[in-house]
Amino acid sequence: MKIDGRAQRTIWVESDGWSVGIIDQTRLPHRFVTATLRNAEDAARAIAGMQVRGAPLIGVTAAYGLCLAMRDDASDASLANASARIAAARPTAVNLKWALERMARVLGPCGIAERPARAYREAAAIAEEDVAINEAIGRHGLALIQTAAAKRAGGPVNILTHCNAGWLATVDWGTATAPIYLAHDRGIPVHVWVDETRPRNQGAALTAWELGRHGVPHTVIADNTGGHLMQRGLVDLCLVGTDRATAAGDVANKIGTYLKALAAFDNGVPFYVAAPSPSIDWSIASGADIPIEERAGSEVSEIAGRDAAGNIVTVALTPPGTAVANYAFDVTPARLVTALVTERGVAPATRAGLAAMFPDRVKDSSFTRPERSPHVEPVET
Ligand code: MRU
Repeated sequence: MKIDGRAQRTIWVESDGWSVGIIDQTRLPHRFVTATLRNAEDAARAIAGMQVRGAPLIGVTAAYGLCLAMRDDASDASLANASARIAAARPTAVNLKWALERMARVLGPCGIAERPARAYREAAAIAEEDVAINEAIGRHGLALIQTAAAKRAGGPVNILTHCNAGWLATVDWGTATAPIYLAHDRGIPVHVWVDETRPRNQGAALTAWELGRHGVPHTVIADNTGGHLMQRGLVDLCLVGTDRATAAGDVANKIGTYLKALAAFDNGVPFYVAAPSPSIDWSIASGADIPIEERAGSEVSEIAGRDAAGNIVTVALTPPGTAVANYAFDVTPARLVTALVTERGVAPATRAGLAAMFPDRVKDSSFTRPERSPHVEPVET
């Protein structure tokens, strides 16, 4: 995407040829600040602290984290240690595990001397594939928006989205936003209802920022508004991302997604999930087996924003000492999902639908490795 007319991605190799640049997403929307990752620990911290976030971008950052590890020490022990450290950064987005496993498959058989260069090549390939996947999701999702536009007869298509499944969550384009950007660029009038997405407000801070930069009309709403809008016929379709879809079409996404899917189902509003294949966990058949991240309670009990003087300030929302819980994701059962928009096309959210779309991936799936939620230490940010 472009920022002030200049092409910008969310992650890149710096001009020194090895360190890794990122947009520090904890500073948006008030400041556009970049940061540099110089070792695997930097990458793990950037993921855990959500300087980079969004399932596809987490995966790409993990891959570059291993590049940095290999540059420091290309031994088997270093590869194993860095993989374990980065894997522990966040549990829900399967892209993290997917990227680390792909890197390990490539680096394992390599001679030690070749590993750093091979790692950078593979990480770059993962990043480029992410862009291509999202462009393809954009093309397939565009058809869904065109169908809704035909019913609107010239009026804007109202699309509700949750969290940020935009270009900031990927290398470029976004998953849920790719069809929206494409529709807007082709002159189809679209308007996006942006759920603020408490507690970290990725909708209000990030989705609103990137849609605004691209000139896409949008309105930020409090998280509880979607049901009301759907009852009034003000939502034509919902389009969200996913951190992990199961082989049977259940989808984990940012907390609150499930409630939007329930409201959509009750009101006959199509509920689409943009699901790039690296976000599909072929080893899991039930959403109940998706590990759900629990984060620091301070994300719920406090809020940060810009004051009138332009300072970023954090203020308390709850009485001191109040107990808070911070589940970061929920699972929407496949029965509430109208379809999954993948890079290969629009698939029914069923085991058969996904298997027909990805016969090459599903053949290795045994469903015998259920993954239970590990205990994850909350991350103070
Ligand atoms: O906690 P986050 O900000 O990493 O959560 C992001 C989301 O829930 C996105 O919807 C999901 O990663 C899909 S990104 C294309």
